Amino acid sequence: MPQTRKAYRAAILHSIADPAQVGIEASYEYFEDGLLVVENGRISALGDASELLASLPAEVPVNHYPDALITPGFIDTHIHLPQTGMVGAYGEQLLDWLNTYTFPCESQFADRAHADEVADVFIKELLRNGTTTALVFGSVHPQSVDAFFSAAQKLDLRMIAGKVMMDRNAPDYLVDTAESGYQDSKALIERWHGKGRLHYAVTPRFAPTSTPQQLTLAGQLLKEYPDLYMQTHISENLQEIEWVKELFPERKGYLDVYDHYQLLGERSVFAHGVHLCDDECARLAQTGSAVAFCPTSNFFLGSGLFNLPMAEKHKLNVGLGTDIGAGTSFSLLNTLNEAYKVMQLQGARLSPFKSLYLATLGGARALRLEERIGTLHPGTDADFLVLDYKATPLLEYRLQQAKSIAETLFVLMTLGDDRTVLQTYAAGQQVHQR
Ligand code: GUN
Ligand code: ZN
Repeated sequence: MPQTRKAYRAAILHSIADPAQVGIEASYEYFEDGLLVVENGRISALGDASELLASLPAEVPVNHYPDALITPGFIDTHIHLPQTGMVGAYGEQLLDWLNTYTFPCESQFADRAHADEVADVFIKELLRNGTTTALVFGSVHPQSVDAFFSAAQKLDLRMIAGKVMMDRNAPDYLVDTAESGYQDSKALIERWHGKGRLHYAVTPRFAPTSTPQQLTLAGQLLKEYPDLYMQTHISENLQEIEWVKELFPERKGYLDVYDHYQLLGERSVFAHGVHLCDDECARLAQTGSAVAFCPTSNFFLGSGLFNLPMAEKHKLNVGLGTDIGAGTSFSLLNTLNEAYKVMQLQGARLSPFKSLYLATLGGARALRLEERIGTLHPGTDADFLVLDYKATPLLEYRLQQAKSIAETLFVLMTLGDDRTVLQTYAAGQQVHQR
């Protein structure tokens, strides 16, 4: 019999509900000396080490981490593969940033070898930062998605991606057509969707770069394949919003454009939403759509402050997005550090448990994957992290002063980054060791 059961002993923490809905204390489970048991890629038990060790067969290996915290893998609900090589592009806001830096950078993905090379860097970077699931934009080239899924499949990662659809308002070298965008997406869906732990997302870049005909065909794909995802951008930048009004004068507003083409729904994720109004939040919530909160990107491009309390008021599903390459870090810990400041600037708070929720279960709910990922509940996929309390001298020293798991968690999110992630596991296999 092959030995497939393994156990991990450490402090263990996971989010089990949204603090905005159940209060902080009921939103998490914490085991000061916990044990996580993994079997055949799934979690088979979670609890206090003292209880579980008593019934664990002696031959099951136990990895013990006295100075670490085990959490679920992080979930990034908005990131661009082909922008890996352009993080930190100076001086522009959204529309000029796209034309000056983004489109030329994405054009390199016409070359499959380049796409393979970047996909490798990108996936290593996700795993180094503890991200085990991401909702990923490719470039307009289908080979960008083939490269990404091929690399993700080798590690049995749970990943979602799609080729960008854009048939106007972009350089000639980077556009598809309504018809080719539809056909190329369809071929990718047939090739990848539902294969192992991979899922496809229909990906119209944003309203300004798709003709009405292309948006119609995007909606048609969602009808043809009921469990597909849809990802796009919305209300990130004030000039962008004005442009959408000019391009679609017959629609009530930005969200109404997507609504009209039937792109809202339970597997639809809208990035940014910085300038959404109350009615739009209500409509997103009503349709079960989700928003990706991208604080480092919204700061970097000067886009604005996301109104998380308004989203919470509507019980709108919100996940976190790094939005590489407008975002400045692959680390969701670093992203939460910035998210906290977004709330501070609005006179609000972001508790460490809400932060944990956003990076894990909240993201899983935004993606309708909470039965599989986002928690450490037995039966779910064994995608988890070992976070090192001694990752840096300052972190080690600071955590010695911490008096509660709330304080420890908050400090991890304030000082933490890729160095904090000692190990990353996906489907029970170690996929990163610092
Ligand atoms: N809106 C349309 N395309 C993009 C993109 O690539 N990045 C960001 N941040 N916003 C967009
Ligand atoms: Zn984006």
